[in-house]
Amino acid sequence: MPTENPKSLNLAHQQAARPSIAVYPGTFDPITNGHLDIIKRAMCLFDKVIVVIAVNPNKAPLFSLENRIAFIQQCFDSVDDRLQVSFTEGLIVDFALRHKAGTIIRGLRALSDFDYEFQLALMNRRLERKVETIFLMTGFRWIYISSTSIKEAAKCGGNIAGLVPDHVAKALKEKFA
Ligand code: COA
Repeated sequence: MPTENPKSLNLAHQQAARPSIAVYPGTFDPITNGHLDIIKRAMCLFDKVIVVIAVNPNKAPLFSLENRIAFIQQCFDSVDDRLQVSFTEGLIVDFALRHKAGTIIRGLRALSDFDYEFQLALMNRRLERKVETIFLMTGFRWIYISSTSIKEAAKCGGNIAGLVPDHVAKALKEKFA
């Protein structure tokens, strides 16, 4: 019968004592109810979740960085120590290390997301082995939505109520008025 190595048990105890911190990166242009679902579920799994907006110079977002941060913050009654909203212009793994986060959370909507997410997770692992990627299946209700499809629908006057938080729906309506 194999016996457990007492040294590795000690390590496990030390790790368990540390707060578990996860980063949830994305463009969030804008945040949708699908993203919110992932954030809330991640908060049940980790002591602290940092939602981090990745600033990508190759993307031309509809909403400013400040707007996108505010939209996320407004989804929660109070943004306390357990949830933070931030941004980075650099690598997500570097951000994670700076903030003592050992996990990157990503949501998977459908099989079509897998290829991209697989590449991203492997690249991040290649860049920094101390940071693991964990995938959460997107809630079934949000499986078909994306920030782009919601923006398109809003632009054409479609009803996007229930797909994004109310304040985001209002901002989209104003943007395309
Ligand atoms: N519900 C609804 N929509 C979801 C979703 C969910 N649970 N999860 C993802 N999506 C949608 C988003 O709305 C977005 O839609 P869009 O393309 O229409 O805007 C799309 O899926 C992709 O979203 P997002 O999660 O924001 O990822 P991204 O591809 O914009 O950004 C980063 C990916 C930010 C994680 C990645 O580019 C990154 O890590 N950048 C920093 C630099 C770096 O570290 N690179 C790694 C080495 S290559």
